Amino acid sequence: MDQIAIFASGTGSNAKAIIQYFDEHESIKVNCLLSNKPSAKALDMAASFGIHTKLISRAELENPMLLIDFLKERGISLIVLAGYLKKIPADMVKAFPNAIINIHPALLPDFGGKGMYGMHVHQAVVEAGVGKSGMTIHYVNEVYDDGGIIFQASVDLEETDQAADVAKKVLTLEHRHYPKVIEQLLLERSK
Ligand code: GAR
Repeated sequence: MDQIAIFASGTGSNAKAIIQYFDEHESIKVNCLLSNKPSAKALDMAASFGIHTKLISRAELENPMLLIDFLKERGISLIVLAGYLKKIPADMVKAFPNAIINIHPALLPDFGGKGMYGMHVHQAVVEAGVGKSGMTIHYVNEVYDDGGIIFQASVDLEETDQAADVAKKVLTLEHRHYPKVIEQLLLERSK
């Protein structure tokens, strides 16, 4: 059984799509959901599905080895970032080579990098007046939004679309694709 750990800082709508998709999957299980934010709705959402939840402590943020031990003890084979806004420490990237992935709400390499998250991304897309946006699933390395791209999908934008409209369109794409891309990645790896 492949065991997934989801990291989320916010609402957790992607986390929810992933948890629902893998419910009763024969070889992939969502093992736990971790958050750095006590108020993250994702924590309550995951708990309501019976998923083990964990609030990442300040000590764990400062000393990633503690978190790495926790994840290794639970047999985690893939860390899935779903709206997780803290930087992943280099030690964790080393401890989970090619086993940490992130979803970004734009077509990287455009509209990525430090400070580019959530609505900031969609606002920048609207201001740039581009005709489309989309989502990118990529490996996580030591630099924000810089790891190898695994999958992208795009959506057309209307001239009248505001940041909230773009967010809605992109989120729909994210929910549709993230669980399937995770499944494909893990099934490929276990061949
Ligand atoms: C998603 O749109 C995700 O792509 C984005 O945060 C949102 C989380 O929504 N992530 C980033 O901006 C990371 N740079 P959710 O909590 O409802 O899944």
